[in-house]
Amino acid sequence: MVSSTHFLSLAACMFFASTVQGVAVRSSSSSSSVATARAASPGTKHLMIFGDSYSCDGFWAGSTTPSSALPLGVSLPGTTTSGGLNWVGRTATELNTSLVLAYDYAEYGATTDEDLVRGATDDVTDQVQMFMTHTASGGEWTADDTMAIVWIGINDVGNSMWDGFATPIEKIMDQYLAQLKILYDAGIRYFTLFTIPPFDQAPVMSGSTTAAMDSLRANITAYNNDLVTRMATFKAANPGVTGTVFNTSASFWAALDSPSKYGAADATCANADGTTCLWYDNYHPGQAIQKLVAENFVEALTGTFF
Ligand SMILES: *[C@@H]1O[C@H](CO)[C@@H](O)[C@H](O)[C@H]1NC(C)=O
Ligand SMILES: *[C@@H]1O[C@H](CO)[C@@H](O)[C@H](O)[C@H]1NC(C)=O
Ligand SMILES: *[C@@H]1O[C@H](CO)[C@@H](O)[C@H](O)[C@H]1NC(C)=O
Repeated sequence: MVSSTHFLSLAACMFFASTVQGVAVRSSSSSSSVATARAASPGTKHLMIFGDSYSCDGFWAGSTTPSSALPLGVSLPGTTTSGGLNWVGRTATELNTSLVLAYDYAEYGATTDEDLVRGATDDVTDQVQMFMTHTASGGEWTADDTMAIVWIGINDVGNSMWDGFATPIEKIMDQYLAQLKILYDAGIRYFTLFTIPPFDQAPVMSGSTTAAMDSLRANITAYNNDLVTRMATFKAANPGVTGTVFNTSASFWAALDSPSKYGAADATCANADGTTCLWYDNYHPGQAIQKLVAENFVEALTGTFF
């Protein structure tokens, strides 16, 4: 399906596209707690994005550097799991009020740390190392114009469920926070962490038992609540951090509660066109939900960063 010359640029998002169940998505959440807001400037902004298929766009670290001609470093809409632009592309190229350059290290099927929960590609610890290798000291960004965004956890919770063990949330969070510290030490001061969205609503879950769904939801809730606590700890320990936990939940429910408003017959169908159903496939939201995530994220950070 891809020529060898295109393989690298597609790999970050599509390498494991044929094994959707059990390695796929994850998403957001949104309770925000903005601290020490600095005035947003009108200049160029840099986004350093870490995560899984809900965020990946085909950018590959070390290939084309994002620029005004190519703000994602790849042609729009990028290689996504929504059939078109995902929240990254929307944020950087449509909702932007200045030039926004997105360095998207997110990879399909990723978990936080593969030693804790299996993933399909480079986990967040690997993605952060790629940032350190290719971008940290490149001179393209400054603390004032750069935000790290992490949207991970769907596969941590999902793959542990498929594999039949309780998600090791505290160990995952220890590794997660260790990665944030690496980014902080590299000079990043703006951080936004997206919560795990209600991916228990994804079509893939339709055959699950009530008990399995109750456990999944309990894990999602526990993970997200922990994320809020950990962000507070991170901010207290590291001077100058502007940290936000973005609750992705409302962006999903806006569409799930009113599918017809978003062009879908119901809340559970899937279509790879990314527009006629709320879901792109059995694990990934289509463009309407991705757009809602982008809009709510930009709104939450307007005046602080954007
Ligand atoms: C938003 O991004 C696009 C793509 O980089 C760019 O062409 C446009 O000028 C930007 N908008 C503003 C207001 O800077
Ligand atoms: C997470 O799910 C597992 C089952 O996969 C369950 O045993 C565990 O109690 C759940 N964790 C929480 C915090 O509810
Ligand atoms: C996210 O928002 C939902 C409501 O949309 C709420 O139920 C949930 O508790 C929030 N999560 C966090 C971590 O604040």
